[in-house]
Amino acid sequence: DWNSSNVIDEQVARIQAQVGSNRVIAGLSGGVDSAVAAAIVHKAVGDQLTCVFVDHGLLRADERKQVEEDYVASTGVRLITIDAEQQFLDALAGVSDPEQKRKIIGREFIRTFEAAAEALVLEAQASDSDAEVKFLVQGTLYPDVVESGGGAGTANIKSHHNVGGLPEDMTFELVEPLRALFKDEVRAVGRELGLPEVIVGRQPFPGPGLGIRIVGSVDKQRLELLRAADKIAREELTAAGLDGEIWQCPVVLLADVRSVGVQGDGRTYGHPIVLRPVSSEDAMTADWTRLPYDVLAKISNRITNEVPDVNRVVLDVTSKPPGTIEWE
Ligand code: XMP
Repeated sequence: DWNSSNVIDEQVARIQAQVGSNRVIAGLSGGVDSAVAAAIVHKAVGDQLTCVFVDHGLLRADERKQVEEDYVASTGVRLITIDAEQQFLDALAGVSDPEQKRKIIGREFIRTFEAAAEALVLEAQASDSDAEVKFLVQGTLYPDVVESGGGAGTANIKSHHNVGGLPEDMTFELVEPLRALFKDEVRAVGRELGLPEVIVGRQPFPGPGLGIRIVGSVDKQRLELLRAADKIAREELTAAGLDGEIWQCPVVLLADVRSVGVQGDGRTYGHPIVLRPVSSEDAMTADWTRLPYDVLAKISNRITNEVPDVNRVVLDVTSKPPGTIEWE
């Protein structure tokens, strides 16, 4: 029967056997899964692991700080942060197709990890230790495998950046300690490993980040709008004590849609923001969360007042299926 310390012991043994004395890098996305995956690997191989946090410019507000401060403080892992915003924005420029965006983001992640691994090799050679970095940790969960078409007889619904979105010429061998687990199990494992609640308890956030929450092409200005709206929604949901009731609440910018509004004493022609609060056990199915009207009103007022170029807030009342949780 399932318990988190068995899972940890089993995975630690498996990782040690897989990795031997080689070096490993782990990409941290800011999400729960990559944080827990890296923490298990750290437990298994200690300083053979280096964590790489890619700031791709598609992050939520404050995410970088949580990883650089809270995660490092609780695990003691070695962390490198890479500023790759311009690289990702250049690669995404003008692209609005969701699958294409996912593939581009997956590819740029790997290219960034490869560059980080090379830098580590140079550094190790300088200090004369065993140099090669052969393994890459991924926080792939069971539902990611199924929904990317990795399970028997399933259709490809979306290329999760860490499953179907990887480039074919990638040379890393993957270490995926969470591949058989669901999200609630991952959280239990994370708590058992001593990770802080701000990381373990946070809402699921897709690896491709805000890049797949802009319907339309991605640019810096759109990301800033969306980041501001997302921060407001999260603040108000937390203030209302609703974090335990929702599974996650994607906030989506419909960048290719405009509608007429009236703000101050003038006409506006701005973009809608979609709130997508969902309740779920494992993200495979979900229902839309019946949030209290006063909370919705507060979020809507704040977003339309505080976020430039947004003049409408709409609520997504679709379950999964037929809608997926994310819009792309
Ligand atoms: P969907 O939109 O497929 O999302 O209903 C199911 C869950 O997965 C998250 N999600 C991702 N997580 N990489 C991830 O690590 C991805 O590419 C990805 N795409 C979606 C989504 O936020 C939801 O929790």
